[in-house]
Amino acid sequence: MSDELTALRDELEGAVQAADSLEALEDVRVRALGRRGSVTGLMKSLGRAAPEERRERGQALNLLKQAVSDAIDARKAALAEAELEHRLASERIDVTLPVRPAPEGSLHPISQTIDEVTQIFGEMGFRWAEGPDIEDDWYNFTALNIPPEHPARQEMDTFYLAGEAGSRPVLRTHTSPVQIRTMQAAPPPLRVIVPGRTYRSDHDATHSPMFHQVEGLAIGRSIHMGHLKGCLIEFCRAFFGVADLPVRFRPSHFPFTEPSAEVDIGCTREGGQLRIGAGGDWLEILGSGMVHPKVIANCGLDPEEWQGFAFGMGIERIAMLKYGIPDLRTMYDSDLRWLSHYGFRPLDMPGLIAEAAE
Ligand code: DAH
Repeated sequence: MSDELTALRDELEGAVQAADSLEALEDVRVRALGRRGSVTGLMKSLGRAAPEERRERGQALNLLKQAVSDAIDARKAALAEAELEHRLASERIDVTLPVRPAPEGSLHPISQTIDEVTQIFGEMGFRWAEGPDIEDDWYNFTALNIPPEHPARQEMDTFYLAGEAGSRPVLRTHTSPVQIRTMQAAPPPLRVIVPGRTYRSDHDATHSPMFHQVEGLAIGRSIHMGHLKGCLIEFCRAFFGVADLPVRFRPSHFPFTEPSAEVDIGCTREGGQLRIGAGGDWLEILGSGMVHPKVIANCGLDPEEWQGFAFGMGIERIAMLKYGIPDLRTMYDSDLRWLSHYGFRPLDMPGLIAEAAE
């Protein structure tokens, strides 16, 4: 091919590559191969060439024409494909829902257990109540009829804050002071369930200096021991998911209740393995009683008019029993392997319905 034709071919191929739309490409085609196009013009001029040149030039022009038209075809295909891609991307309608994110965390068994307990009592008409972790001596002890010589008041059991002896603030040793705060806050009748942190100077496989309790209180004009028994039997059966779970009320003593009862549930301990359910053996799970008249009077209420029952239990203890957790201390280790094993899915609402359906 002559230098002149090579230069023309390079120029036309460059123009083909530079065409960025099908219209621009068509312009290049018309300029080269159209009736008045540059390549067509050269073909027409072939007749005027000397006969000895004609053959060679004819071949070269054919090659040129072929090269240009191949380049145009290839570019056309590429542009058509790009245009289709562009349309597919810009006209796309996403009819799918976004994927739900996989849960990244889990609920600690203590939170789960608090949810379960409050749910069960919630369905019996108890509402959630709370009180401060740092309590006055009066709320934690005196108002609850706990005498000065009671062991719970001793330094070795209780974390005291700085202050005058007898009125020093304490890290509450139980959730019972919220009984007092509730009765002072609004007139009865009332029913509250009070989960929260509590503190005692204790540390071993079943005791931690910080732990959780849940308190319950029901006050009315005619609430009696039958209500206490009915509510707590119902709770034990719902919580442990055993419909015929034996529940026993054992006489006991607490300064703030009279009479007082500890509540045991049926179990077996065959082969060292604890199983909750009927079996002739007993396991203590909570303290309860009829609220002492002095406690009612300490809240400014008339014990001749108002009476009721109260109970308290350890959250860790019932969580360990229900979920087979052998060592209390692992609950506060923040070990992710432990949490993914014993944890619960967030938003998995506890309820009685699943248990009833089993
Ligand atoms: N406050 C008691 C404790 O920490 C538990 C308790 C027992 C609470 C009997 C009560 C009750 O309300 O009636 O051991």
